[in-house]
Amino acid sequence: MQLHVYKDPEELSEEVAKWMCKCINESSKEKVTIALSGGSTPDLLYRKLASTPYRDMIRWNRLHIFWGDERAVPFNDERNNAKMAFDSLLSHVDIPAANIHVMQTNVPLEEAVADYERVLHTYFNEEGFDLVLLGMGEDGHTLSLFPGSTLPADQMKWVNAVPAVAPAVPRITLMPELVNRSSEIAFLVTGSKKAKTLYEVIKGKYQPEKYPAQLIQPVNHHLHWFIDEDAA
Ligand code: 6PG
Repeated sequence: MQLHVYKDPEELSEEVAKWMCKCINESSKEKVTIALSGGSTPDLLYRKLASTPYRDMIRWNRLHIFWGDERAVPFNDERNNAKMAFDSLLSHVDIPAANIHVMQTNVPLEEAVADYERVLHTYFNEEGFDLVLLGMGEDGHTLSLFPGSTLPADQMKWVNAVPAVAPAVPRITLMPELVNRSSEIAFLVTGSKKAKTLYEVIKGKYQPEKYPAQLIQPVNHHLHWFIDEDAA
């Protein structure tokens, strides 16, 4: 596990953009698979990747884009993670539409889960993604794995439906099984409100039912925490 502490979200986003360019450009693979995070933290990073110099440093048509999780709301809903990524990045760079795999939110949840699992199985077998970006909530959740939520009995599942009680919305989420087989996993965590939880997740006792972010344990141990001073 590598901890990278930066002054503020601006510097953090700049450094993560550099790090992502390095990971992508150093990969010898023709297809580079990336799972994007939702939430608000990565917005600044995505905007930087869509701007010079980073937009010119990446051969975008090598990238195949996935999501770590999605809220079951229409694509044009401000809460939709794919919408955020398109608005800040994907609509501004040349990634073929066939290489961008959004989690369907206009079909029943279980159908969307089955569809995403099928798509993932056309890409992955033993290994996971080349790069996974993750956020962490103040409650220690990541992806859409929330404290106290029971994981499916089938730990081998790659995708799961997360029912919700209003006003929360149901969600679709990747499961640790696939994520933990990825080459590089990066958490982006900023803000003082997350500092206590972050300490428990990284330094505290292993209690993933309370801090689901602890479920992220890449088999190759390439886990990066990009945090700002407020979160540190
Ligand atoms: C989501 C995200 C979620 C997010 C954390 C942090 O759909 O909400 O996938 O896991 O990364 O909630 O969100 P912020 O970046 O907005 O703090």
